Amino acid sequence: MNVKSLFDLSGEVGIITGSAQGLGEQMAIALAEAGAKVALVDINLEKLQKVEERIKKLGGECIAIKTDVTDPLQVDNMVNIVVKKFGKIDILINNAGVVSNYPAEDIPKDEWDKVINVNLTGVFLCTQRAGRQMIKQRKGSIVNISSMSGLIVNRPQPQLHYNVSKSGVIMLTKSFAAEWAKYNIRVNAIAPGYMRTPLVDKVYPRYGKDWVKYIPMGRIGDPSEIKGPALFLASRASSYMTGSVLVMDGGYTAW
Ligand SMILES: NC(=O)c1ccc[n+]([C@@H]2O[C@H](COP(=O)([O-])OP(=O)(O)OC[C@H]3O[C@@H](n4cnc5c(N)ncnc54)[C@H](O)[C@@H]3O)[C@@H](O)[C@H]2O)c1
Repeated sequence: MNVKSLFDLSGEVGIITGSAQGLGEQMAIALAEAGAKVALVDINLEKLQKVEERIKKLGGECIAIKTDVTDPLQVDNMVNIVVKKFGKIDILINNAGVVSNYPAEDIPKDEWDKVINVNLTGVFLCTQRAGRQMIKQRKGSIVNISSMSGLIVNRPQPQLHYNVSKSGVIMLTKSFAAEWAKYNIRVNAIAPGYMRTPLVDKVYPRYGKDWVKYIPMGRIGDPSEIKGPALFLASRASSYMTGSVLVMDGGYTAW
């Protein structure tokens, strides 16, 4: 196959959760630019509709569906809407995520529940529910956004609950990959390092200088730099990869 067509998503349908801003917005644009029809999913409908307008201006076909990824009924409803509108699901990018910082001894139970629910249970629910459609089709590519925090403990900010949720995403990726390879469904993960999104903006003034010291490339990532890795894992370009974790961190975990 010609190398350009390996990355061509014409005729494919992709869902991207948490796509109202940040990395999710960039990955939705990447899929649309590669020719896919995209379903934008987030709890923030107002921002989601701005991304929808942006993608439509680029000439892409897309739909915005307000969904809380932690609610199985809302996830089922979202999957039904996508299948009704576009007829199938080829790609799912599980990106919705939240973070907070507490010393381990002070993490409130509510905060533990929230982070595990969105970052881990949300990925499980969307994968399971969209996966049922992919199993029927005998085709699918799922990309889970973990983090380098699933592989190492960040410093100086304390975030045990977040780190645990992201390491859970890595094992969830491998487990789904092993079970569903027989259905021609690939499941891979990306482990980004620090990327300058709204999630990170809040704490960047406090921690940014420290972080950059530990990054061999000497800078944090621009959100658009996830477009290539996401398209690679979503597309035929990675056809012999499943259960893999693609680290994209400016070298942070190499030190
Ligand atoms: N920015 C980074 O440095 C970085 C690094 C590693 C991993 N990540 C991961 O990448 C993903 C995206 O991060 P980001 O920096 O773009 O964050 P962000 O806060 O800019 O965007 C996250 C999006 O998820 C949505 N969301 C939150 N809870 C949701 C829910 N219950 N249901 C549906 N949508 C929900 C938010 O509304 C928001 O639009 C997250 O999983 C994050 O943990 C980010």
